[in-house]
Amino acid sequence: MNWFGNRLVTVVLTVAVLMAASVFVTSFTNNIKLPDNNQGYEPVQPIAYSHRLHAGELGIACLHCHHGAERSKSAGIPSANVCMNCHARLTAPWVNVKAEDDLATKEKRKPRLIISPELKKMYDRIGLDDNLRPDSTKTPLPLTWMKVHNLPGFVSFNHSAHVRSGVQCQTCHGAVETMERVRQVSDLSMGWCVNCHRDANRNGINGTPRNASTNCIVCHH
Ligand code: HEC
Ligand code: HEC
Ligand code: HEC
Ligand code: HEC
Ligand code: HEC
Repeated sequence: MNWFGNRLVTVVLTVAVLMAASVFVTSFTNNIKLPDNNQGYEPVQPIAYSHRLHAGELGIACLHCHHGAERSKSAGIPSANVCMNCHARLTAPWVNVKAEDDLATKEKRKPRLIISPELKKMYDRIGLDDNLRPDSTKTPLPLTWMKVHNLPGFVSFNHSAHVRSGVQCQTCHGAVETMERVRQVSDLSMGWCVNCHRDANRNGINGTPRNASTNCIVCHH
């Protein structure tokens, strides 16, 4: 049996046993942290998309691109259409476009379309040519990104339950709006989840009382 299968069996068995003997619960849940947790993981992405620029400087709301976070289990990653709302026209940093415009005026010609190397990767990927027209020699493909956060398959997590009860994105993900490249800030350990649930039950979230379960089956079913 493979590694994942083994672990899944262990979890199912432990959950079953401990549910029967819930005395163990409090001491058990405090410090579980697997050695393979990826805290600090900061993978290089295929396109150097910056949260610092878009969510920080430009102030685009998190939910504009991750609207799933409010309504469903997954926050979701936006498709290229969302990017193209701006980048169909905005093809390079404004200073570069302006420099070309100035030069064109001086040379009495039409300005050329300036495409930055980083955005060119996106246009290539979605099958556009250097004039941003569909290129018949290219197959349009969806953007792909390296996943930063990964919970094991035997844990169920639901964004909307958290976001709707008033937990901020930043509480779990850190100050993403300052990150050039997204990094896993929390360790995503069981202790991390359970400690917040206990704290929420004691103190509420932003003053509103919450009932965040610490039952094994809530997170492992
Ligand atoms: C303009 C669209 C856009 C906005 C606005 C945006 N994001 Fe993202 N987000 C993305 C894209 C694209 C990715 C995938 C590439 C990457 O990881 O940088 C991503 C990835 C992430 C990830 C990592 C997902 C994983 O793989 O585990 C987190 C966490 C995240 N965003 C949180 C936020 C938060 C919090 C905000 C608001 C402060 C925000 N995002 C605003 C587009 C956006
Ligand atoms: C209670 C903690 C918590 C809060 C609050 C939270 N997240 Fe997450 N987020 C996680 C965890 C845990 C994962 C990994 C989920 C997995 O691997 O199944 C994740 C994954 C993601 C991903 C990767 C894609 C996905 O859906 O799995 C994105 C994007 C993301 N979060 C964005 C956001 C944004 C935007 C907000 C605020 C609107 C937010 N998160 C609020 C804990 C949180
Ligand atoms: C609301 C408009 C808007 C949206 C939506 C948007 N961007 Fe941007 N993006 C900008 C602006 C403005 C700049 C900065 C231009 C400048 O430097 O003058 C920029 C810059 C960039 C750059 C850097 C370009 C360079 O070479 O310096 C990349 C890469 C990029 N965006 C990718 C994306 C991706 C991928 C998405 C979708 C997930 C996206 N953008 C969504 C407005 C947007
Ligand atoms: C920062 C605090 C915080 C963290 C961290 C956190 N949670 Fe929660 N969780 C809550 C709150 C608050 C609720 C909602 C209670 C309510 O609805 O009143 C909740 C609810 C839940 C629920 C019940 C959802 C439902 O459908 O009712 C599950 C399952 C859950 N969390 C799993 C997790 C897992 C798994 C993790 C870790 C990966 C985690 N949580 C981390 C605060 C947190
Ligand atoms: C609030 C959510 C939550 C609750 C409640 C919870 N767990 Fe977990 N559990 C997790 C997360 C998240 C992980 C994954 C941790 C990691 O990968 O570091 C995990 C991992 C585990 C593992 C695997 C450890 C390993 O070394 O592979 C076992 C076993 C486990 N939980 C048993 C339980 C039992 C028994 C209970 C009830 C007493 C329980 N869990 C309650 C979130 C939870």
